[in-house]
Amino acid sequence: MKHLLISLAALAAAPAWAGDHGLPANTPAAYKTECGSCHAAFPPALLAASDWRRTMAGLDKHFGTDASVDARTHAALLAFLERQAGRRAASPGTAEPRFTTGAWFVREHREVPPRVWKDPKVMGPTNCAACHKGADQGRYGERELSVPGMAYREHD
Ligand code: HEC
Ligand code: HEC
Repeated sequence: MKHLLISLAALAAAPAWAGDHGLPANTPAAYKTECGSCHAAFPPALLAASDWRRTMAGLDKHFGTDASVDARTHAALLAFLERQAGRRAASPGTAEPRFTTGAWFVREHREVPPRVWKDPKVMGPTNCAACHKGADQGRYGERELSVPGMAYREHD
C-alpha cells in the first residue's frame, strides 16, 4: 500500500510534463537543420529560458565547436526556445548549460547501466538517437526505445 501511494504521488506530479518531452509541432525547420546536425534537435522544454539565452549567446564557442548561425536565424531560434522553454534550470557547475547532468534527466535514465553509456554505439547521454529511434523527429516515447546491449522492456 505504501508503494502504491508513492506511485500515485509520482503520477500526480507528472502531468505538468506528460506529453511535453518532445519537439513541439511548431518547431521551425531551422531548429532541426541548425541544431540537429551534430546531435538531436533537443526538446526545448529540457532547459529554462535563461539557459537557452546563454546557449544561444555562446554559439561561436559551443562545446568546443562553432555552431554560429546568421542573425535572422539566431533571432528566430532564440524566440522559439524562449517560448518553448521548460522550468527546469540547467544543473549548476557546467560552463555551458546542460540538461543531461540535471536531476530530471538522470532520474529518467536511472535504469541505463554505466556500461551502456560507454558502449561505442552510445558514447554518452547526448547521443539520444542511439536509443530513442524517434529522436530525429523529436519523439522520446517508450515504444520507440531500443537500447544497445540492454533488453529494455516497457514498464507494466
Ligand atoms: C558543430 C556541431 C554542433 C552544432 C551545429 C550544435 N551543437 Fe550543440 N553541442 C555540440 C557538442 C559537441 C556538444 C557536447 C556533446 C557532448 O557533451 O556529448 C553539444 C551540446 C549541446 C547541449 C548540451 C546537451 C547536454 O549535455 O545537456 C545543448 C543544450 C546544445 N548543444 C544546444 C544546441 C543548440 C540550441 C544548437 C543550435 C543553435 C546546437 N546545439 C548546435 C555540437 C553542436
Ligand atoms: C543509452 C540509451 C539512451 C540514451 C542515449 C538516451 N536515452 Fe532517454 N531514455 C532511455 C531509457 C531507458 C529511458 C526510460 C524509459 C522509461 O522507463 O520510461 C529514457 C527516457 C527518456 C525520456 C522520458 C520518456 C517518457 O515518455 O517518460 C525522455 C524525454 C528522454 N529519455 C530523452 C532523452 C534525450 C533528449 C536524450 C539525448 C539528450 C536521451 N534521452 C538519451 C534511454 C536513453
